[in-house]
Formats: sequence, structure tokens, C-alpha cells
Amino acid sequence: MAGRIPQSFIDEVVARSDIVEIIGARVPLKKAGREFKACCPFHNEKSPSFWVSPEKQFYHCFGCGAHGTVIGFLMQYEKMEFFDAVADLAQRAALEMPREAHRSGDPGSADLHNVMARVARFFEQNLADQPRAQKYVSARGIDAITTAKFALGYAPDSWDALLNRFGSQEEERRQVLQLGMIIERTVARAGAAGFYDRFRDRLMFPIRDSRGRVIGFGGRIIDQGEPKYLNSPETPLFHKGRELYGLYEARQARADFKRLMIVEGYMDVVRLHQAGITYAVATLGTATTQEHLNKIFRVTSEVVFCFDGDRAGRQAAWRALENSLSLARDGRELKFMFLPEGHDPDTLVAEEGPEAFENRLNTALPLSEYLIQQLMVEVDLDHVDGRAKLKALAAPLFARMPEGIYREMLADRLAAQVGMPAATLKKSFQSGDPKRAPTERPEPIVPHRGRISVGRGNLLTQAITLVLHHPAAAAAVKDPESLQGVDKPGVAVLRELLMQAAAASGPSTAMLLERWRDLPEYGRLAELAMAEPLVADAAAAAKELQMAVEKLLEEYGPGRRMDELLRKAEELGLNYDEKAELTLLLKSKGRSRATP
Ligand code: GTP
Ligand code: MN
Repeated sequence: MAGRIPQSFIDEVVARSDIVEIIGARVPLKKAGREFKACCPFHNEKSPSFWVSPEKQFYHCFGCGAHGTVIGFLMQYEKMEFFDAVADLAQRAALEMPREAHRSGDPGSADLHNVMARVARFFEQNLADQPRAQKYVSARGIDAITTAKFALGYAPDSWDALLNRFGSQEEERRQVLQLGMIIERTVARAGAAGFYDRFRDRLMFPIRDSRGRVIGFGGRIIDQGEPKYLNSPETPLFHKGRELYGLYEARQARADFKRLMIVEGYMDVVRLHQAGITYAVATLGTATTQEHLNKIFRVTSEVVFCFDGDRAGRQAAWRALENSLSLARDGRELKFMFLPEGHDPDTLVAEEGPEAFENRLNTALPLSEYLIQQLMVEVDLDHVDGRAKLKALAAPLFARMPEGIYREMLADRLAAQVGMPAATLKKSFQSGDPKRAPTERPEPIVPHRGRISVGRGNLLTQAITLVLHHPAAAAAVKDPESLQGVDKPGVAVLRELLMQAAAASGPSTAMLLERWRDLPEYGRLAELAMAEPLVADAAAAAKELQMAVEKLLEEYGPGRRMDELLRKAEELGLNYDEKAELTLLLKSKGRSRATP
């Protein structure tokens, strides 16, 4: 089945997914050195032996032996088929599944999508039929085109409208239940059905995935009521913390937007799009997570957070800042924009029009600027302790940022504030607690029980381990094909790995391992992938790898045969065939050593 999806596409999916993000959304991970650990989700344990490596994009439990890539994790944890795991990750990365890949078997999620599409149409139909709902929509200033574009709908003021429509057949009732559209009564009431509609008397905002399929809803109560907004619960299709309302519509509106703007509400998105600001998206009533931002940075490099000017808005902005620090890399722009108190984008764009609203983008603060500004609120620089406090507040934030222009900018701005050369300030951040500056020095490798160590003795195992740990180093090996001539079990595996790593663009451990998923060597390779590191970094790996390959060639390869022949030539002389063989060997040796 794996063969139906091209390898290059699987590579792309693995490269664009982040295993820490995917696993972290399901299992609470704790950072430990360069890796993350947790209590294993696949067996019962009290102390953590489940490790996730962001570098290798691989997980391994030293307790029960569970291991795999991001694809393997979804298969194991979510019980997904290989195809569905790839499709799920592809969708999150906004990658279109290639046409030659087609599904076999399991129609489960396709069916759920189907039901969801029909539910959405049911709500749309209701909106068209019900004057009360239409009145609300027009009172909120939403026109017919926008209503259609966002497929807005209405959930009738009834406990069983949806139930009656979709719940009469057992199979379909099970599906709408699974989709969170109906709720099972916990206490059976005499004469009442066992289920009731979740959304009642609400304006329905369908939430679409990147392919435009409805996966959940947000529902706003018509007029007054509690809660004001209600979201679909977590379902097999819908995970609130990762979805952005309006992203599909933004991408439909234009493929090449310069930026995305994150606003707070459904209504804000709809009204901004209607006003022509079609790059607005919203989280679903949650803080902006790294998962959201990763999703966004896959489609654009500029993000503007837009918050209400009130206290809640400022708090939300600071949370967004904290969540985005680690993603503030070169080439990305992160900005913060605040609206006047008492306004949200919905009301403001209606009041002042789209141009004036867009002009406000010029007032947006770059991340480092906003960060400083907020810190300054908390300290009094005229006071002796002010500077120390500013530094103390900034240090942990600084440490969370990757090296690059954002961090430089922040250091420069801070240095100016505390009246100290930027270089000195940076140094002071980096001395002290080493945890504070994770990108500045290699983090300690945390030893853990069960991790195998590869003895210095076994050259071949070492070489394989090096490629698995540092696939990029494979490019340094000059002539992996020369290993063809090495007569030793397992060398073919090394040669294959070297060629795979050299051929892939930006290869990772996970990418390599995915190629071996269905082969007998997979288990052993996975074990080596998580073995104790042999060297500190890729440069060292490249050197060691080249040396190991040369040694293998020398010990087992045509070189050894060459020595044998040379000795024989001296002692006994060679026959015709042996002479030919030696000539060939000398030639190929000349080629592989041509560029030392
Ligand atoms: P309108 O009153 O319709 O203009 O909504 P708003 O977008 O101005 O509402 P608000 O600023 O109160 O909320 C912004 C977003 O927070 C909403 O779009 C929802 O996603 C979320 N939200 C607001 N109220 C609730 C609630 O009661 N429950 C939940 N789960 N989310 C809410
Ligand atoms: Mn509003």
C-alpha cells in the first residue's frame, strides 16, 4: 500500500511535519537536553522512558520498544492506516495528495466528511428558510455573497431538528454523534429521545480544513444567551487547537497573500473578508499556539496579530508573543497591532472602512519592539534595580528565540535601554544558567537507560549509525557506490542508506527510516537510530563516515583483494585473469582517490 504514494511525497510530508508538535499535541512532552521525554503512551509506566528526538524526527520507548517516525506515531497512536496518516499530515502541511495515491479500504473518515458536508448544507438550508436567522445576519451587516462564501447556516431553535434529519438510521446517528453534532443524554428522561442537538438557535460558521471540507462548526447564539459561542468538540475530524477559521477562505480569495492577520473572532473574519481584507483568520477562541503559527508559516512569512485594545486583548497578545518567540526566525515577520479600546475588527472596519483599517497595519509593532515595550511597563529604569530587573525579565525570553536577526534586534534594543553594549549584554545572557541559551551551546546529551551504545569495534554498525544520526553527512562520502565491491554482509544496507541520504533533499533520520518501513532491516535500523550518539555534530560525522567507508573498503573491499594480488605478483607472478583483475582494481582505486 505504501508503494502507491511516491517516496518523494512521503519525504516532503515528513520534512514538513514536526514530530514534537504532533506527539506533543497528544502526549505531554518534557524537554530533556536535545530531546523530549514522556511517560510512554503505549504501555503503562510511572517514570518516563518514551523519548522524542526533534533532530531525528523519531520517537522511541526504551521501556516497551515502541518506535517510529511521525507517520508511525499516528498509525500507532491514532490507529490510522499508513495512507491516512500520510494524508492527515499532508493536509496539515497544506500539501495536496498526489493523484496516483489512492485510498484502499477504510472509508471511515471519508464517510464522516460526507456526513459533515450534508450537515453543513442542512444548516445553510435552514438559514435560507428562517426569517429570524436572516434578520440576525443582516443586522450584523453580512451580505448574501459573504454568507454564501462562508457557507453560513442556522441551527434551528429545536432539540431535535438535526437529530430527526440525521438520526433516524442507526449508522448515521452514530456518525453525527461522533461528529459532536448531537449529544447523548446521560439521564434518560421518560418519553424523551436518548439524544439531542448540540447546536440550537445559533448562527453556524462552518470550519473548513485546507481542502475546504467542513470539519467542525462555531455557533453564535442568535441575540442573547449563554454561551455566546459554542464550538464543535474534539472529533476525529476536528482539533480545535490547530484550526484557523478563515484560512481556507483566505487561500481561496488569493493564492499569493503577503501576510495573514490573526484576529479574535469568527465575526471579525467574516466582516473583514467582506470588506476586502481577505487575509484575516481567527483561532477558535483559544490562544494562538505554535501549531497555529507553524501552519501559518507554511503559507506566508508575515503574521500580524490583531487584538482588541482592552485588557483581555493585551493579555492574549502577550500569550501569543510567548508562543511565537521560538518561531521568530529570519525571513519571518511577526507583528502586533492593537485596536482602540471598545472596538473589534468587526465594528471598526464597519465604522472607518477597509482603507483606514488597513492603514492601521503601519502602526503594528514588530515582535521585539512590542516585547521591549511590555517589559518597560514592568520596570522603572530610573530606579537602580530597574535595569537588572529588565535584564532578568528579558533573559528567559531571549533564550527562547532562535539565533538570528530577531534575537539581534532584541539585544540591540535592550542594550540601548539599559545603556550597555549589545555584545556585553548578550554575553551576560549566555553566561550563568546554560539552559538559558539553548541555541548557543550544544545541549548535554541526556543518557537514558536502554539506549544501546554502538561499540567502537564494529565499523559497519558505526557507519550505519552515523548515516542515520546525521543523514546530511552522507553527502561527504565521495563514492558510496564503490562499496558495491565490498564483500561483507550488511554493507549493502550502508551503501543503500548513503545513496538514499545523498539523493534526498534535506534528509532526516525519519525520512531514511520511512524507506525501510516494510523491510526486515527496519527494526535494527530503528534501534541504531536511537543509539548513543557517536559524535557531536554533522561535521564530525562527515569526517568519521568518510573514514569508516575508506576503512571498510580497505579491510573488506577491492583494496584487500588488490593487496593480495600485488603480493602474489611479487612472490609467484599472476596469471592472465589475475592481471586483468588487478588492472581493473588499480584503475578504480585511482578514481575513488582522485580527489583526496
Ligand atoms: P460578536 O459578539 O458576535 O461580535 O463576537 P465577537 O467575536 O466580538 O466576540 P468576542 O470578542 O466575545 O469573542 C471572540 C471569540 O472568542 C469568538 O469568536 C469565539 O471564538 C470566542 N468566544 C467568545 N465567547 C465565547 C464563549 O462563550 N465560549 C467559547 N467557547 N468561545 C467564545
Ligand atoms: Mn464583535
